[in-house]
Amino acid sequence: MQDLDRLGVTREVLAQMAETPDARLREVMAAAVRHLHDFAREVELTPDEWLAGIAYLTAVGQACTPFRQEFILLSDVLGLSRLVNVMHDADGREAAGTETSLLGPFFREQAPDFALGDSIAVHHRAGEEIVLFGEVLDGAGRPVPHAEMDVWQTNAEGLYDLQARDATVMDMRGRFRADAQGRFHFRTVKPIGYSIPMDGPVGQLVQKQRRHGMRPAHIHILVAAEGYRDLVTALYFADDRNIGSDTVFGVSNSLVVDAATGVPGSPRPDLPGIRYDFRLSRRKEGETGGRVGADPSRVMPAEG
Ligand code: BEZ
Ligand code: FE
Repeated sequence: MQDLDRLGVTREVLAQMAETPDARLREVMAAAVRHLHDFAREVELTPDEWLAGIAYLTAVGQACTPFRQEFILLSDVLGLSRLVNVMHDADGREAAGTETSLLGPFFREQAPDFALGDSIAVHHRAGEEIVLFGEVLDGAGRPVPHAEMDVWQTNAEGLYDLQARDATVMDMRGRFRADAQGRFHFRTVKPIGYSIPMDGPVGQLVQKQRRHGMRPAHIHILVAAEGYRDLVTALYFADDRNIGSDTVFGVSNSLVVDAATGVPGSPRPDLPGIRYDFRLSRRKEGETGGRVGADPSRVMPAEG
């Protein structure tokens, strides 16, 4: 038995957890306890504040549904998702590999298949039609044949299909397969920037912090091919006013694009076009897909 002062309690907790057989769990939990205790000491956390924090995390959990992952949204607005992405990129992305970006909460498995050249704007066609084209390459610039590409974005009103009244209808998303030379092209309408979901505890926090809550206009793209790490990325439009202040920190300079007329090699010279080549990194031994983001099907138990 010992008296636990403000440092002694940390030592005692670490000592009790020291025999955890799983080495990674032992490492992660010891670091979590050290940082949590340091945090409480740094801000001189009061009992009321501690309770308010517990109530907040409870509300975050209660806001989660099979279609909404409020905890990942919290991680996103705190920059933790981006940090994990950056570290994951540093550990295995080839030097020439395309940078990743957040998967976000609006990815859906089994989007409809389209042929190269089709438009993903099936139900909401309003907006400026554009073409996106390029090649899927490996780290050395060689074509990767037949890569699968999932594409999803908001419509011209800034809404994903999952946010529509009838969320069962898929729109503004689809799957393409690059050709044998790794080439692809598809049409869509230029997306606009949109607000992250603001009607829950994360939105309340963002408002209290006087942040705008917006994401700059972007198109999400997931590129998958046998033997390569899944590339989860997004292309961001340079002309969006919030390009430099994304609420979830997803933008990288190398992912910023502009739709322009007269882009050389465009398969649809009649439309404003974006050429973007995606470069995949080889999958490391034992590595799974490598997606970092809010894919509810991976983080939520099945309903029922
Ligand atoms: C998105 O890009 O879809 C997204 C990412 C993180 C939080 C909210 C939305
Ligand atoms: Fe998005």
